[in-house]
Amino acid sequence: MSRPVRIAPSILSADFARLGEEVRAVDVAGADWIHLDVMDGHFVPNISFGPNIVRAIRPLTAKPFDVHLMIAPVDGYLDAFAQAGADTISVHLEAGPHVHRSVGRIKSLGLRAGVALNPGTPAKMLDYLLDVVDQVIVMTVNPGFGGQRFIESQLKKVAAIRKMIDATGRSIDLEVDGGIDAETARQAIDAGADALVAGTSVFGEGNYAANIARLRPA
Ligand code: DX5
Ligand code: ZN
Repeated sequence: MSRPVRIAPSILSADFARLGEEVRAVDVAGADWIHLDVMDGHFVPNISFGPNIVRAIRPLTAKPFDVHLMIAPVDGYLDAFAQAGADTISVHLEAGPHVHRSVGRIKSLGLRAGVALNPGTPAKMLDYLLDVVDQVIVMTVNPGFGGQRFIESQLKKVAAIRKMIDATGRSIDLEVDGGIDAETARQAIDAGADALVAGTSVFGEGNYAANIARLRPA
């Protein structure tokens, strides 16, 4: 079965001193979405950027902003990221006791709502969320840093969630995030992913258009 695959470059791996140019460059190079990794130094052991940066780069591209919040608590920041220009906001299942409430708040702000699962979190945590979410992110690294190695055991989870999504009959994007290169992209797509986040493999060596093209199914 073939479905369109979205490529979402993560600006975490961009040159922050030239962030605006970098966003324009991946837009022109064929990015479908722009993935924005927000880290708080608490939920994950790294700090990245907040809503002001999202707002600053919003005018530079018309591509959807796929905002991945690795912050806890998260609810108090949802409105700020919506106002900054997010199209999708994803929150972590592990970031607090009220993920269903967070999803409801994101929806009420008029945005697409996603939930992200850390590598140690089982697919069954989604049982009572798939009727409301628009996106699921399966983390194939432990979140916090770009450039980590893809955790292969997560492919089984991707396949399980693909089945769960198909059983709902709803349109829910299944995004894989972490360690994506040409080889792991193919594995993730084979397992049922239809969106891929890529930091290092897009912003690293070489031409951005070629780097993005290499991640798409042949
Ligand atoms: C990890 C982030 C990812 C990451 C992807 O915490 O959510 O989006 O930056 O980077 P690569 O593609 O380098 O693994
Ligand atoms: Zn991410």
